[in-house]
Amino acid sequence: MNNWPFFNRIIWKKKKAVKKEKIESKKLEKEKKEENYDEIIGRLAAFFAHEIRNPLTSIIGFTQFLEQDKTVKTDPKISQYLSIIKDEALRMESLIQELLVLATTDFQKDHLSIIDVKCMVEKTVAIFEMQPEYESVRFETDLLDEVYITGNESRFEQLLVNLMNNAIEASKGECIIHTRLKKEDKDVWILITDNGTGIPEDLIEHLFSPFFTTKEAGTGVGLPICKAIVETLNGELSIQNQQPKGAQVQIRLPLMKNTP
Ligand SMILES: Nc1ncnc2c1ncn2[C@@H]1O[C@H](COP(=O)(O)OP(=O)(O)OP(=O)(O)O)[C@@H](O)[C@H]1O
Ligand SMILES: [Mg+2]
Repeated sequence: MNNWPFFNRIIWKKKKAVKKEKIESKKLEKEKKEENYDEIIGRLAAFFAHEIRNPLTSIIGFTQFLEQDKTVKTDPKISQYLSIIKDEALRMESLIQELLVLATTDFQKDHLSIIDVKCMVEKTVAIFEMQPEYESVRFETDLLDEVYITGNESRFEQLLVNLMNNAIEASKGECIIHTRLKKEDKDVWILITDNGTGIPEDLIEHLFSPFFTTKEAGTGVGLPICKAIVETLNGELSIQNQQPKGAQVQIRLPLMKNTP
């Protein structure tokens, strides 16, 4: 009897197991490196944000002081330049502020409470609908009653606002934003779909990197913050292109215990 096929199979299986082990240890190593890298970036960002903010506050203070000066007031050119300096410094200050939030926010320390997901989606949509600049945006919902999660209410609102802002900013022309809730076992899925430009395939992997933006006035902190909020609640967040156009953000969050 020829035993070779049998032995070959054992050798092949062993080789496969060793290969799998190698791949897994490489993956672990990569994850560890990424964690360290994130921590260093976070600390650097917090340090620079903090140190830049102080001189910036002085610049803004002095421009405000100079704006009141009689000689400056009488010279329209100097007034104009001063107002540009002040506006740009204010913009830098708000960027620095976002950087500080991203680098130092400890979502783990947030106060948690019971969140009615349907209520929060409705509230967020109402906030957008109240503002005249979003008059042409159509918000559609397909929600479920009695969907409760445990989380921080204002963070959850920040999550929805960031994602809806992205959806609006991605759309050109008629903008429709559809929010759907779906229960699955012990989880709820929040699916936010837009009919915007979608995301070029080669950019998808960069979307969650801090400061990645394709917008002229973007900061690139919206999605990393959203991901951190969702992951703190033991959930997952991903974004995918839709056919024929648009994108869909998929959020999975664990339902509150004892939810029917
Ligand atoms: N719904 C979407 N459709 C298409 N592209 C999107 C969508 N959401 C996010 N993106 C892409 O992901 C990038 C990163 O989004 P993110 O919210 O992190 O930053 P941003 O919107 O550019 O700036 P901001 O910090 O002001 O939110 C965007 O610049 C955009 O290219
Ligand atoms: Mg954004």
